[in-house]
Amino acid sequence: MITLAITSQKGGVGKTTLAINLAYAFALSGKKTLLVDSDPQGSVGLSLTRQSRNLAGLYDFLGDPVISLEEIVVPTRSEAFSLVASGQGSDYEMNEGLAGSSRHRLRIFLADVKAAGFEICIIDTAAGLFGVTADVLAACSGVIVPQQAEPLGVRSVPKMLEALARMRSVNPHLEVLGVVLTMVQASLDESRESAMALRSILPEEMVLRSEIPRDDLFIKASARGLPVGVMPEGSGALKIFDQLRGELELKLRLRSKTS
Ligand SMILES: Nc1ncnc2c1ncn2[C@@H]1O[C@H](COP(=O)(O)OP(=O)(O)O)[C@@H](O)[C@H]1O
Ligand SMILES: [Mg+2]
Repeated sequence: MITLAITSQKGGVGKTTLAINLAYAFALSGKKTLLVDSDPQGSVGLSLTRQSRNLAGLYDFLGDPVISLEEIVVPTRSEAFSLVASGQGSDYEMNEGLAGSSRHRLRIFLADVKAAGFEICIIDTAAGLFGVTADVLAACSGVIVPQQAEPLGVRSVPKMLEALARMRSVNPHLEVLGVVLTMVQASLDESRESAMALRSILPEEMVLRSEIPRDDLFIKASARGLPVGVMPEGSGALKIFDQLRGELELKLRLRSKTS
């Protein structure tokens, strides 16, 4: 099973949007896909399932050894696509005492996900590399870093990638798959220039070729709790996420050949 974390230093860069739409692209390609929300303030479950009540989720599982995977996996309208919401235990993040034990419980979670037949597990995270996100990175096989194409944002990316590379001392299997440029505005010089600046300061293989354009459709889709590809006008966006999926699968295949 492939486990991919979506992380960034800052909030609002498009992590959740990327996680939802990439997971949907994997599911459409026929892979049994699980989307997991590890952001205690996350709303993946609420929005995608349009549930008004809070679903039990990852934090319940991490905090209570009696809870099973079956109890927290929620099906969606797409056959191959299920999700696990972040759940109720959001005070967990505040409690440093629990952070150490979450790593062990998270490994159990992922082993159960694999045993349930999932082929790919995409984990959306809260901004920053601490707390449960650090535990997620300690257990994942790959990490993707969405970065908004805007002038001030791109300068911090090399430091973020260095910090992720250091995580490999804890998890030697962690592959930094690269940065995905998000909210790219082709019509805006500053946006195009910051995308180019990022490509010029990082090694070529560290910035994925697929770029996510800025499009109001993403805001409309998230208001309806849908992957953008489900929207009537969403076929263009769907193609982009499918391209990104293909790029990531190729990288992961090459890695498994060389390791
Ligand atoms: N490509 C995009 N074009 C336009 N709006 C976007 C795009 N990606 C995300 N957004 C919007 O920006 C906001 C933040 O995105 P989100 O995915 O929640 O970021 P994060 O999870 O990093 O905080 C949301 O309102 C989302 O709908
Ligand atoms: Mg988010």
